[in-house]
Amino acid sequence: MIATVARRSLLASRTTAVRAATLPVARAAAASTWASVKAGPPDPILGVTEAFKADKDPRKINLGVGAYRDENGKPYVLPSVREAEQRVIASKSDKEYGPITGLADFTKNAAKLAYGADSKPIAENRVAITQSISGTGALRIGGAFLARHYPYSKTIYLPTPSWGNHTPTFKDSGLEVKQYRYYNKDTVGLDFNGLIADIKAAPNKSIILLHACAHNPTGVDPTQEQWKHISQVVKEKEHFPFFDMAYQGFASGDTDRDAFAVRHFVSEGHEIALSQSFAKNMGLYGERVGAFSLVTADADERARVDSQLKIIVRPMYSNPPIHGARIAGTILADAQLYQQWLAEVKDMADRINGMRAQLKSLLVDENGSKLNWDHITNQIGMFAFLGISPEQVAKLVNEHHVYLTKDGRISVAGITPHNIKHLAKSLHAVTSA
Ligand SMILES: Cc1ncc(COP(=O)(O)O)c(C=O)c1O
Repeated sequence: MIATVARRSLLASRTTAVRAATLPVARAAAASTWASVKAGPPDPILGVTEAFKADKDPRKINLGVGAYRDENGKPYVLPSVREAEQRVIASKSDKEYGPITGLADFTKNAAKLAYGADSKPIAENRVAITQSISGTGALRIGGAFLARHYPYSKTIYLPTPSWGNHTPTFKDSGLEVKQYRYYNKDTVGLDFNGLIADIKAAPNKSIILLHACAHNPTGVDPTQEQWKHISQVVKEKEHFPFFDMAYQGFASGDTDRDAFAVRHFVSEGHEIALSQSFAKNMGLYGERVGAFSLVTADADERARVDSQLKIIVRPMYSNPPIHGARIAGTILADAQLYQQWLAEVKDMADRINGMRAQLKSLLVDENGSKLNWDHITNQIGMFAFLGISPEQVAKLVNEHHVYLTKDGRISVAGITPHNIKHLAKSLHAVTSA
């Protein structure tokens, strides 16, 4: 009996196999496992680069991507980075795995760069830190840590607008995302009253994301007095401040000045979270060098937090890449290379600021624009938020071969003495029509 049943089922499975083998190809394809996966939208910033590459006009300009370019519009490797890389190669180090939280020689000095060489929490051994896959990875670790361990809220408040990757990064970390006002369209500046009102209106102990300097995409930062006020309100409301510092040195050319907000909050007793990126200030974009840190109450708490950071990192990517961290670590640890790097950061910031001033002058003095372009020189960092409409952006792209993001943001780092005249003429043409 059992043998008969077994034979029947064998026959049935053979019949199914024969039928499947003779199915028409189209029907087999329709049954694909991924048939119901929908195409997602292209990345808005990388999409700009794709369109730029396809354009054959010699006047074309790509101001979409946030990467520094030299005077000839070429990617720039800092001489200090070249020198540090030579030293790393000459040391003939092995390629063994690094620790889960990365290279301590690098993270120790990354913390000093952000918090200051005389930082009290560093001296008291209460800064928990891990190397990260650049700034994005730092935000992702921080989001996951807060989602898992912050006891009071699972909601992070972002400025409107904010870097486009903040929302997906924090949502993927397990946080809910809400907004606070930041940018005022009418003044093309900071909506300080809106910011304060929204931070006050958020439930106590919410998580507040703050761009430490060179806000992306607007290029609009609070003044030092405004930062002090924000710190006070955050304290009154017992909020938790999470700083994203992707541009230390790029805003003013001075890494200490750009760390003002972070250091002020810490000096006021806030236990902050901090994301650092070395993509822009060391030009280490593709090397993916960053750090995530948390200021804790004491060394014992720091050790417990460190252990939990490891538990987050280990199943995500096990341990971070070593090459870029060795380069950054070499620069940060060597007094002479460090000074050289500071000067190179300043040179990049100065070139960007020079382009801002020249663009404004070309718009007003050479092209005769009657509009107020002061915001181009008032804003700081890598980007300028032009305050133009989506229709004007489309015209810049389609009629003038000037590529930028739909919100009217340009990367000032992509402007050069060779393309600035075409840019000013085009910008005037679309804003005066
Ligand atoms: C505000 C902000 N945060 C974080 C990042 C992260 O960049 P990366 O992951 O390349 O360090 C960027 C990059 O453009 C940024 O603008």
